[in-house]
Amino acid sequence: MGFCKWVSLIFILNLFWPIPISSKSLSPNELAEISINFLNYAKEPELAKWMVDIRRKIHENPELGFEEFETSKLIRAELDKMGIPYKHPIAVTGVIGYIGTGEPPFVAIRADMDALPMQESVEWDHKSKIPGKMHACGHDAHVAMLLGAAKILQDHREELKGTVVLFFQPAEEGGGGAKKMIEAGALQNIDAIFGLHVSSGAPIGTVASRPGALLAGSGFFEAVISGKGGHAAIPQHTIDPILAASNVIVSLQHLVSREADPLDSQVVTVAKFQGGGAFNVIPDSVTIGGTFRAFSRKSFMQLKHRIEEVIRAQAAVQRCNATVDFFADNKIFFPVTVNNEVLHEHFVNVAGDMLGIKNIKHMEPLMGSEDFSFFSEAIPGYFFFLGMQNETRAKLENGHSPYFTINEDALPYGAALHASLATRYLLEYQPKSHLPKGKLHDEL
Ligand SMILES: *[C@@H]1O[C@H](CO)[C@@H](O)[C@H](O)[C@H]1NC(C)=O
Ligand SMILES: *[C@@H]1O[C@H](CO)[C@@H](O)[C@H](O)[C@H]1NC(C)=O
Ligand SMILES: [Zn+2]
Ligand SMILES: [Zn+2]
Repeated sequence: MGFCKWVSLIFILNLFWPIPISSKSLSPNELAEISINFLNYAKEPELAKWMVDIRRKIHENPELGFEEFETSKLIRAELDKMGIPYKHPIAVTGVIGYIGTGEPPFVAIRADMDALPMQESVEWDHKSKIPGKMHACGHDAHVAMLLGAAKILQDHREELKGTVVLFFQPAEEGGGGAKKMIEAGALQNIDAIFGLHVSSGAPIGTVASRPGALLAGSGFFEAVISGKGGHAAIPQHTIDPILAASNVIVSLQHLVSREADPLDSQVVTVAKFQGGGAFNVIPDSVTIGGTFRAFSRKSFMQLKHRIEEVIRAQAAVQRCNATVDFFADNKIFFPVTVNNEVLHEHFVNVAGDMLGIKNIKHMEPLMGSEDFSFFSEAIPGYFFFLGMQNETRAKLENGHSPYFTINEDALPYGAALHASLATRYLLEYQPKSHLPKGKLHDEL
């Protein structure tokens, strides 16, 4: 290729790449230092205590999905104090903050904000003040860690080679807040997204995840099986929906045991069965409901399709009609949470530098689900678990238990991981020129 061609190609490239192609890349040691420094920074008593205070304030005032008004207000007040610009409202209570150059690349880090409709049973100074509501999944800690990351990033904003986007997301617990944020355009221009969840079982100072499918896709179904009620002693004048529903449930069990690949984990559970109220009356109808889970979109859609087909057809065998509802409108259809392979490598590098490679645990997929999957279905995403268990102390209860507690010592780890995953993503994943690097300088 001649000199003139090079010049025009470079000219064209410059038009399309707003990033300086020649930005000097850091050595592996310099990159590792970022992660180590951020953890030390986050562990400074002042920053650590600030996160603890925020977490406790949110814990005392838990708010359910799409009702996180005070939580959202608190977040915005802290962003204002730090001088971080943001957009609000996104999906009712959501907040999106921006730190860095305002230019691409854009990398997002995400925290969910909602609590659960359950009564806290832990007696402590910062117990939930709202009867019947509790932060029992750790989303209060997630918000505190993301604000901690915001603080670290804002204090190091000169080092950012692009823009970190903070996602404070409403309604993770079945509300599909992530989906609503996407519908509001939250992912526009975002190149990658990271999210974390506290883990009661994993030791503090460790993280766990895996490339590929991490958490199952999950859906719920409810079916009304209608027959014709009547006297229990004169069945010939009735169409019995109890017997039909029983056969439906047995047939549903065959979807996983007879139709699914035994090596492709799936679940179909009927957890609800309502119908009848007397010993001697066959009811008009029965309602059944349950959940189904799978690790690939294909298996998930196949299950959904067959659940509907089996319910209708098996009900028809016994002369009943059935209607099936998958609540698709209520957004409680979670895709499989799939971790991008390249981002997995990035995660192992960053977390390994910060915590030591032996503290990066490979985990098997879990049947639980996360609405982070809506993000990672749309753009490259990565989700991981942050250890909280300190073996010198009492065992922590699992999420969704009324006795759930947070080990607040884990907050600096989460904040530092968020901040360095994002900072190093911007440094290491600048849009790359396909031209050989040396030539650019030699010839210009
Ligand atoms: C089922 O639906 C058909 C068509 O609407 C109706 O004629 C029939 O009566 C229904 N059967 C029952 C048991 O509800
Ligand atoms: C675990 O708990 C002990 C006792 O409270 C404490 O000294 C130690 O620093 C904790 N470890 C971590 C990693 O937080
Ligand atoms: Zn939860
Ligand atoms: Zn959760």
